[in-house]
Amino acid sequence: MKSFTELSKLFEEKFSGSHFPAHTPTLYTPAEYILQIGGKRVRPVAVLMGNELFDAITPDAFEVGAAIELFHNFSLIHDDIMDKAPLRRGVQTVHTKFGESTAILAGDVMLVQAYEYLNKIKALHLQKILQLFTKTAREVCEGQQLDMDFESKANVSLDEYVNMITLKTSVLLAASLQLGAILGGASEHNQHHIYEFGKNLGIAFQVQDDYLDCFGDAEKFGKQIGGDILANKKTFLMIHAFETASAEQLATLKKLMTDNPSDKVEKVVQIFNDCKVGEWAQQLKEKYLQTALQHLDDVAVLSNRKQPLVELANYLIQRES
Ligand code: IPE
Ligand code: IPE
Ligand code: MG
Ligand code: MG
Ligand code: MG
Repeated sequence: MKSFTELSKLFEEKFSGSHFPAHTPTLYTPAEYILQIGGKRVRPVAVLMGNELFDAITPDAFEVGAAIELFHNFSLIHDDIMDKAPLRRGVQTVHTKFGESTAILAGDVMLVQAYEYLNKIKALHLQKILQLFTKTAREVCEGQQLDMDFESKANVSLDEYVNMITLKTSVLLAASLQLGAILGGASEHNQHHIYEFGKNLGIAFQVQDDYLDCFGDAEKFGKQIGGDILANKKTFLMIHAFETASAEQLATLKKLMTDNPSDKVEKVVQIFNDCKVGEWAQQLKEKYLQTALQHLDDVAVLSNRKQPLVELANYLIQRES
């Protein structure tokens, strides 16, 4: 069984280099730009891990991994427009560098390219793979819309938040693992449990992302710190503060959200700290990690085959980048 580092190296060898035609560089250069600035490649590695859990890695897993990474990067370009984000992976976002219209189109063509990669795999699994990929892509759109709707919704419950992040983030990780499992010939039972492992892990992953957006190290995280606060995102930090703040703090919080003063981020962070959001983050992540690991236990393969997935889980919820 290969580790995350080994698998990401294997994936990178195949994935680096050009994915697009040489013509129309004004369209394809921005697409290559975001792919080449890297990222953790968590999802394609999850495809490979899902595959290797059940069988030797098939070449098709690299095509599916490429499709997933293209889809992920497409969603990031559009997400950065929606979130008005200036930075990603430590550099300028695509729309900041190349303009919004080009960024929209570069994202679109990456989604098209994702389907080109899917179309390369053997016929045996193609229909199942397409079905899961398409269902997941639709769910990501639904989650992204809910994320935006919540910006202007005063009261968002923790359940609504978990549903939203499940859709926008965790189903893609879950599907990546299941897609790999399908290629590995996994049973329906095993596919279900590996998907649920990924889904619960993905929730913890987004909780960590929301935590880092507020408390991360800008250098390591590579994104603007406080971006979620500026956009009035209903992260678990905000929801927890709404639930535990004093009446006075609550009034201050609400005023900061409508007035958007220049010291908004630091003032909100102060209230978050008073509400002990850091401890709450640990509790939330731990809860979803445990559920994820239970599902991993329920996958009917020898436990030593699961070791890379256990390591992946621990890495993702402690990550700083
Ligand atoms: C960022 O995903 C978007 C979220 C779902 C939080 P990653 O943190 O996996 O981003 P990269 O690909 O490593 O840059
Ligand atoms: C994004 O969530 C999820 C998708 C891109 C689908 P965020 O908006 O929190 O992701 P980052 O923090 O910008 O990477
Ligand atoms: Mg964003
Ligand atoms: Mg977003
Ligand atoms: Mg984020």
